[in-house]
Amino acid sequence: MNQEIEIREVGTRDGIQSLGAFIETSRKVELLEALAETGLRRIEATSFVNPKAVPQMADAPDVMALVRRRPDVKYEGLVPNVRGAQDAVKAKMDAVSVVVMTSEAFNLKNVRMSVEESLGQSAAIKEVADAAAMPSMGAIGTAFGCPYEGDVPPSRVFTLIERFLALGFSELMLADTTGMANPSQIEQVMSEVLDRWGDRVLFGLHLHNTRGMGLANVVAGLRAGVRVFDASVAGIGGCPFAPQAAGNISTEDTVHMLHEMGYATSVDLERLIEVARLAQEMLGRELPGQVMKAGPRWQLHAAV
Ligand code: COA
Ligand code: ZN
Repeated sequence: MNQEIEIREVGTRDGIQSLGAFIETSRKVELLEALAETGLRRIEATSFVNPKAVPQMADAPDVMALVRRRPDVKYEGLVPNVRGAQDAVKAKMDAVSVVVMTSEAFNLKNVRMSVEESLGQSAAIKEVADAAAMPSMGAIGTAFGCPYEGDVPPSRVFTLIERFLALGFSELMLADTTGMANPSQIEQVMSEVLDRWGDRVLFGLHLHNTRGMGLANVVAGLRAGVRVFDASVAGIGGCPFAPQAAGNISTEDTVHMLHEMGYATSVDLERLIEVARLAQEMLGRELPGQVMKAGPRWQLHAAV
């Protein structure tokens, strides 16, 4: 098979943004540099947001000014509005993404805007990005369930896809922001999405392991034909605006599973496991990733 899957690392953004104690800029830089040495090609390095909303990302410009960049790695940034897009251009990001939630309640909590206002900002962000020849990507948050409003009918996701498409976006992440999706739902929704828009849009999945369904949802996504997945080293993470949000799917667990299944990624798993352990040391507590604890499946133990 050996089909190539693209992994987008989001640990230093989605992961670190939710942590309480401020992580020093130099440590964020260290983690980014270590991640870039693992073969990852895309890293959502940081976000350009109101520091009052997400204090952990207040040093985004400093992080990007300090980090030694590898030319074969794309350093991407999340932005909620035009101001963020302008800051991302100044920081010479390789790409930006903008998230719009399916639910009014969550969108309001996240960015203090209605869904319609966020779509307006998405259009403006794309203009800023286009003018700077910086690629931009859309993301649809709470695409498979909202912790405030409950079930999300797929039609809401489909409408947002059409809206992003009308704005000229050609890459979209569908996000299970709080880990509410189940594998049957992912396979069903993503099959229909790829069927209807797969020829015009590159789709990826952003999954959280809040309820232990994360890797099962990756498999469901693969079955539907999804080839791009977000993941967070050591499984750090969770949205600060979501109640009880646990981490993203762990990058090394995802890569390990994909390789075991016969898929290819650009990632050197052993190196990535070392970085997951480094993240654990850095944060000074046990992190959710499992393969970094058990070791990869092919690492055998002495029988004595
Ligand atoms: N970066 C830095 N500062 C920003 C900013 C940005 N992208 N956008 C706005 N600000 C600043 C303004 O300059 C203003 O500063 P001041 O208080 O010194 O005047 C302040 O933030 C308030 O601006 P306002 O436009 O009223 O924003 P707001 O308070 O309504 O917040 C967002 C709206 C979108 C900026 C904020 O909710 C946010 O950053 N959310 C990000 C959430 C997030 O990252 N979620 C991650 C999960 S997807
Ligand atoms: Zn997330």
